[in-house]
Amino acid sequence: MPRPLLIDTDPGCDDALAIWLAFASPEVTIRGISTICGNTALPQITENACRICELAGRIDIPIYPGCSQPMLQTLDTAEVVHGADGLADLRWPPVSMRPQAMHAVDWIVDSVMSAPAGDLTLCALGPLTNLALAIVKERRIVARFRELVIMGGSFFAGGNSSQVPVSESNIANDPHAARIVFESGANITLAPLDLTHRNLATPERINAIRGRGHVADIAADIMTFYSRYDVEKMGLPGGPIHDPCTIAWLIAPTLFSTRRIDVEVETMSTSSLGLTIGDWWGATGKKPNVTVLHNLDSDGFYSLLADRLALL
Ligand code: RIB
Ligand code: CA
Repeated sequence: MPRPLLIDTDPGCDDALAIWLAFASPEVTIRGISTICGNTALPQITENACRICELAGRIDIPIYPGCSQPMLQTLDTAEVVHGADGLADLRWPPVSMRPQAMHAVDWIVDSVMSAPAGDLTLCALGPLTNLALAIVKERRIVARFRELVIMGGSFFAGGNSSQVPVSESNIANDPHAARIVFESGANITLAPLDLTHRNLATPERINAIRGRGHVADIAADIMTFYSRYDVEKMGLPGGPIHDPCTIAWLIAPTLFSTRRIDVEVETMSTSSLGLTIGDWWGATGKKPNVTVLHNLDSDGFYSLLADRLALL
């Protein structure tokens, strides 16, 4: 039975790959997509989400625009990484798909409250504003989620936020929202930079995807554009493919090792705002609240990604 999934996302180059991987995977079924400001401004994010669905022939997927700004922080977009349009600036044709009128926060609450308890999983691929406000609006959703699979945070890998260099971008863009989510008691699985910075789209891996079909070719173009920033800026041998790790966890968990730890989000300090503080060795004795995706068989991941993209 495919696992029903809500995706909250800020596409975003790596978000696109995550959404396409989900579309191509029979292990999950996407109930809908909500958009959040992040990699660029919300209107462009929402247009990109429509474009990603249209390119994969999934105009059946409802798209719900969410918050256009973080709860308190000033939005720190990442066009330098994802392109001026947030999707690799590939001169896209106009998109015809239109989003729903319902707000993402209302959609998340209504979806979870109308589904059987423990039925729905939500993958969060951007700042956690929509999810946090849904929890504030209707706290009963926390216990009804089967799992929250979140791309975000960093423990030993440094940060990638231009606002707060020690913090990861999704968390740093809305640390107050992240604190609400991490303190909610929900069943959280986290894919941090510690994992994703070792999951690099090298030229060899991109070439193994190219030529596998229409969407695979577009994905290869996106990965090529997206990788240049981290290769030039961080000296990595390839671009870290973050968001698809959340979907890979759901469809191929044996690719990962995990660790249960207590994670807190810094919301008081300006110099470390949005830092995810992981009690890696259980020093505090606090009950762990997060399952961290720790190691990944990256060759297995890219083989899975290539095979699945070839199905679209
Ligand atoms: O730090 C990486 C995360 O921030 C990814 O989700 C990327 O898409 C951006 O949203
Ligand atoms: Ca993202």
